[in-house]
Amino acid sequence: MKWLARAAVLFLFVATCSWLDTIKDQWYVFNPTSLHQLAQAAIAANPNNTAGMINHIVTNLTAEYPTTQIRLNKDSSEWVFNNAGGAMGAMYIIHASITEYLIIFGTPLGTEGHTGLHTAHDYFNILVGEQWAFAPGQLEMERYPAGSVHYLPRGTAKQYKMHEGCFALEYARGWIPLMLPFGLADTLTSTLDIPTLYNTFRITGREMIGNLLIGKV
Ligand SMILES: *[C@@H]1O[C@H](CO)[C@@H](O)[C@H](O)[C@H]1NC(C)=O
Ligand SMILES: *[C@@H]1O[C@H](CO)[C@@H](O)[C@H](O)[C@H]1NC(C)=O
Repeated sequence: MKWLARAAVLFLFVATCSWLDTIKDQWYVFNPTSLHQLAQAAIAANPNNTAGMINHIVTNLTAEYPTTQIRLNKDSSEWVFNNAGGAMGAMYIIHASITEYLIIFGTPLGTEGHTGLHTAHDYFNILVGEQWAFAPGQLEMERYPAGSVHYLPRGTAKQYKMHEGCFALEYARGWIPLMLPFGLADTLTSTLDIPTLYNTFRITGREMIGNLLIGKV
Protein backbone atom coordinates (compact mmCIF):
# COMPACT_ATOMS: atom_id res chain seq x y z
CA MET A 1 0.00 0.00 0.00
CA LYS A 2 2.84 2.36 0.97
CA TRP A 3 4.64 1.74 -2.32
CA LEU A 4 1.46 2.18 -4.29
CA ALA A 5 0.94 5.58 -2.65
CA ARG A 6 4.55 6.58 -3.37
CA ALA A 7 4.23 5.50 -7.00
CA ALA A 8 1.02 7.52 -7.30
CA VAL A 9 2.69 10.65 -5.87
CA LEU A 10 5.66 10.22 -8.21
CA PHE A 11 3.34 9.76 -11.17
CA LEU A 12 1.37 12.90 -10.24
CA PHE A 13 4.60 14.88 -9.86
CA VAL A 14 5.95 13.77 -13.25
CA ALA A 15 2.58 14.40 -14.90
CA THR A 16 2.39 17.93 -13.40
CA CYS A 17 5.93 18.74 -14.55
CA SER A 18 5.21 17.47 -18.09
CA TRP A 19 2.01 19.51 -18.21
CA LEU A 20 3.76 22.68 -16.96
CA ASP A 21 6.44 22.13 -19.58
CA THR A 22 3.85 22.12 -22.38
CA ILE A 23 2.19 25.38 -21.21
CA LYS A 24 5.27 27.42 -20.19
CA ASP A 25 5.49 29.31 -23.52
CA GLN A 26 2.51 31.49 -22.57
CA TRP A 27 4.64 33.20 -19.88
CA TYR A 28 7.34 34.43 -22.26
CA VAL A 29 7.42 38.19 -22.77
CA PHE A 30 10.65 38.63 -24.75
CA ASN A 31 11.22 37.41 -28.25
CA PRO A 32 14.63 36.18 -29.48
CA THR A 33 14.29 37.89 -32.89
CA SER A 34 13.45 41.32 -31.43
CA LEU A 35 16.26 41.01 -28.89
CA HIS A 36 18.69 40.21 -31.68
CA GLN A 37 17.51 43.29 -33.62
CA LEU A 38 17.84 45.36 -30.46
CA ALA A 39 21.41 44.11 -29.88
CA GLN A 40 22.33 45.00 -33.47
CA ALA A 41 20.74 48.46 -33.16
CA ALA A 42 22.60 49.04 -29.86
CA ILE A 43 25.93 48.15 -31.55
CA ALA A 44 25.24 50.38 -34.57
CA ALA A 45 24.23 53.37 -32.41
CA ASN A 46 27.20 53.08 -30.01
CA PRO A 47 30.38 52.17 -31.90
CA ASN A 48 33.18 51.18 -29.53
CA ASN A 49 31.10 52.07 -26.48
CA THR A 50 29.95 49.09 -24.41
CA ALA A 51 28.31 51.21 -21.71
CA GLY A 52 26.38 53.07 -24.42
CA MET A 53 25.15 49.76 -25.88
CA ILE A 54 23.94 48.56 -22.48
CA ASN A 55 22.21 51.88 -21.85
CA HIS A 56 20.58 51.70 -25.30
CA ILE A 57 19.24 48.20 -24.55
CA VAL A 58 17.84 49.03 -21.10
CA THR A 59 16.28 52.32 -22.28
CA ASN A 60 14.64 50.55 -25.20
CA LEU A 61 13.25 47.69 -23.10
CA THR A 62 11.86 49.97 -20.38
CA ALA A 63 10.13 52.04 -23.09
CA GLU A 64 8.90 48.93 -24.91
CA TYR A 65 7.41 46.93 -22.01
CA PRO A 66 5.03 48.32 -19.37
CA THR A 67 5.96 47.78 -15.70
CA THR A 68 2.65 45.97 -15.24
CA GLN A 69 3.77 43.29 -17.70
CA ILE A 70 7.39 42.69 -16.72
CA ARG A 71 9.83 43.90 -14.09
CA LEU A 72 13.23 45.10 -15.37
CA ASN A 73 16.27 46.05 -13.32
CA LYS A 74 17.33 49.49 -14.60
CA ASP A 75 20.37 49.78 -12.32
CA SER A 76 23.18 49.08 -14.80
CA SER A 77 25.80 49.58 -12.06
CA GLU A 78 24.63 46.36 -10.37
CA TRP A 79 27.28 43.89 -11.54
CA VAL A 80 28.33 40.63 -9.87
CA PHE A 81 30.98 38.07 -10.68
CA ASN A 82 29.77 34.91 -12.33
CA ASN A 83 31.83 31.73 -12.14
CA ALA A 84 30.30 28.77 -13.93
CA GLY A 85 31.56 25.80 -15.90
CA GLY A 86 35.14 26.92 -15.29
CA ALA A 87 34.60 30.29 -16.98
CA MET A 88 34.63 33.63 -15.20
CA GLY A 89 33.04 36.94 -16.01
CA ALA A 90 30.61 39.43 -14.59
CA MET A 91 26.91 39.85 -15.15
CA TYR A 92 24.29 42.55 -14.86
CA ILE A 93 20.84 41.01 -14.44
CA ILE A 94 18.30 43.00 -16.48
CA HIS A 95 15.47 40.52 -15.94
CA ALA A 96 14.96 37.27 -14.02
CA SER A 97 11.74 35.31 -13.65
CA ILE A 98 10.79 31.63 -13.48
CA THR A 99 10.72 31.19 -17.28
CA GLU A 100 13.06 33.90 -18.63
CA TYR A 101 16.23 35.75 -17.88
CA LEU A 102 18.08 38.53 -19.65
CA ILE A 103 21.58 39.52 -18.59
CA ILE A 104 24.65 41.29 -19.85
CA PHE A 105 27.53 38.85 -19.40
CA GLY A 106 31.17 39.24 -20.25
CA THR A 107 34.72 40.09 -19.33
CA PRO A 108 37.33 42.36 -20.92
CA LEU A 109 40.00 39.74 -20.11
CA GLY A 110 38.71 36.71 -21.95
CA THR A 111 37.61 33.39 -20.47
CA GLU A 112 36.84 29.83 -21.45
CA GLY A 113 34.68 26.98 -20.16
CA HIS A 114 31.69 24.66 -20.40
CA THR A 115 28.34 26.24 -21.33
CA GLY A 116 26.43 23.99 -18.94
CA LEU A 117 23.64 21.60 -19.86
CA HIS A 118 20.45 23.59 -19.39
CA THR A 119 16.68 23.28 -19.15
CA ALA A 120 16.32 26.50 -21.16
CA HIS A 121 17.07 27.66 -24.70
CA ASP A 122 19.92 30.14 -24.72
CA TYR A 123 20.47 33.07 -27.12
CA PHE A 124 23.86 34.68 -26.73
CA ASN A 125 23.85 38.02 -28.61
CA ILE A 126 27.43 39.22 -28.98
CA LEU A 127 27.81 42.98 -28.42
CA VAL A 128 31.59 43.37 -28.23
CA GLY A 129 34.41 40.99 -29.11
CA GLU A 130 33.98 37.45 -30.30
CA GLN A 131 32.86 34.11 -28.89
CA TRP A 132 34.19 30.80 -30.14
CA ALA A 133 32.54 27.44 -29.56
CA PHE A 134 32.70 23.78 -30.43
CA ALA A 135 30.92 20.52 -29.61
CA PRO A 136 32.54 17.05 -29.59
CA GLY A 137 32.93 15.79 -33.15
CA GLN A 138 33.57 19.20 -34.66
CA LEU A 139 37.12 19.68 -35.85
CA GLU A 140 36.71 23.39 -36.63
CA MET A 141 35.47 26.04 -34.26
CA GLU A 142 32.30 28.09 -34.61
CA ARG A 143 32.90 31.85 -34.57
CA TYR A 144 30.39 34.40 -33.29
CA PRO A 145 31.40 38.03 -33.94
CA ALA A 146 29.67 41.16 -32.59
CA GLY A 147 26.14 41.42 -33.96
CA SER A 148 25.66 37.66 -34.30
CA VAL A 149 23.74 35.33 -32.00
CA HIS A 150 24.93 32.00 -30.69
CA TYR A 151 21.85 29.85 -30.12
CA LEU A 152 22.25 26.91 -27.78
CA PRO A 153 19.11 24.73 -27.67
CA ARG A 154 18.00 23.27 -24.34
CA GLY A 155 19.76 20.05 -23.46
CA THR A 156 22.89 20.74 -25.51
CA ALA A 157 26.34 21.79 -24.33
CA LYS A 158 29.55 23.15 -25.87
CA GLN A 159 32.95 24.37 -24.92
CA TYR A 160 33.17 28.13 -25.43
CA LYS A 161 35.81 30.79 -25.33
CA MET A 162 35.68 34.56 -25.25
CA HIS A 163 39.15 34.83 -26.61
CA GLU A 164 40.16 38.44 -25.99
CA GLY A 165 37.30 39.81 -23.97
CA CYS A 166 33.68 39.86 -24.99
CA PHE A 167 30.35 41.18 -23.76
CA ALA A 168 26.99 39.74 -24.72
CA LEU A 169 23.28 40.17 -24.16
CA GLU A 170 22.24 36.70 -23.01
CA TYR A 171 18.59 35.66 -23.17
CA ALA A 172 17.40 32.34 -21.77
CA ARG A 173 13.86 30.94 -21.85
CA GLY A 174 12.70 27.73 -20.21
CA TRP A 175 13.00 26.69 -16.55
CA ILE A 176 15.36 29.26 -15.06
CA PRO A 177 15.52 28.04 -11.41
CA LEU A 178 16.89 24.69 -12.67
CA MET A 179 19.86 26.59 -14.19
CA LEU A 180 20.89 28.07 -10.86
CA PRO A 181 22.81 25.03 -9.50
CA PHE A 182 25.19 25.26 -12.49
CA GLY A 183 25.51 29.00 -11.91
CA LEU A 184 26.44 28.50 -8.27
CA ALA A 185 28.51 25.29 -8.31
CA ASP A 186 31.86 26.98 -9.03
CA THR A 187 31.29 29.51 -6.26
CA LEU A 188 30.47 26.77 -3.75
CA THR A 189 33.29 24.40 -4.72
CA SER A 190 36.02 26.78 -5.81
CA THR A 191 35.89 30.55 -5.35
CA LEU A 192 34.03 30.59 -1.98
CA ASP A 193 33.29 34.23 -2.76
CA ILE A 194 30.50 34.65 -0.20
CA PRO A 195 29.65 38.32 -0.96
CA THR A 196 29.15 37.37 -4.64
CA LEU A 197 27.02 34.39 -3.63
CA TYR A 198 24.93 36.62 -1.35
CA ASN A 199 24.48 39.32 -4.00
CA THR A 200 23.60 36.78 -6.71
CA PHE A 201 20.87 35.32 -4.48
CA ARG A 202 19.70 38.74 -3.35
CA ILE A 203 19.34 40.19 -6.87
CA THR A 204 17.94 37.03 -8.49
CA GLY A 205 15.46 36.53 -5.64
CA ARG A 206 14.39 40.17 -5.66
CA GLU A 207 13.77 40.10 -9.44
CA MET A 208 12.02 36.71 -9.52
CA ILE A 209 9.71 37.56 -6.61
CA GLY A 210 9.12 41.07 -7.96
CA ASN A 211 8.02 39.52 -11.26
CA LEU A 212 5.78 36.93 -9.57
CA LEU A 213 4.08 39.74 -7.64
CA ILE A 214 2.97 41.37 -10.92
CA GLY A 215 1.91 37.99 -12.32
CA LYS A 216 5.00 37.42 -14.53
CA VAL A 217 5.94 33.78 -14.08
C1 LIG B 1 13.49 49.16 -29.53
O1 LIG B 1 14.41 48.64 -30.48
C2 LIG B 1 13.82 48.01 -31.59
C3 LIG B 1 14.94 47.41 -32.42
O2 LIG B 1 15.91 48.36 -32.71
C4 LIG B 1 12.97 49.02 -32.36
O3 LIG B 1 12.35 48.38 -33.44
C5 LIG B 1 11.94 49.61 -31.41
O4 LIG B 1 11.19 50.62 -32.08
C6 LIG B 1 12.60 50.18 -30.18
N1 LIG B 1 11.57 50.62 -29.25
C7 LIG B 1 11.62 51.75 -28.56
C8 LIG B 1 10.46 52.03 -27.65
O5 LIG B 1 12.57 52.54 -28.64
C1 LIG C 1 38.01 51.91 -29.04
O1 LIG C 1 38.31 52.66 -27.87
C2 LIG C 1 39.54 52.34 -27.29
C3 LIG C 1 39.64 53.09 -25.96
O2 LIG C 1 39.14 54.40 -26.06
C4 LIG C 1 40.64 52.67 -28.27
O3 LIG C 1 41.90 52.36 -27.71
C5 LIG C 1 40.44 51.87 -29.54
O4 LIG C 1 41.40 52.21 -30.51
C6 LIG C 1 39.05 52.13 -30.11
N1 LIG C 1 38.82 51.21 -31.22
C7 LIG C 1 38.21 51.58 -32.35
C8 LIG C 1 38.03 50.51 -33.37
O5 LIG C 1 37.81 52.71 -32.53
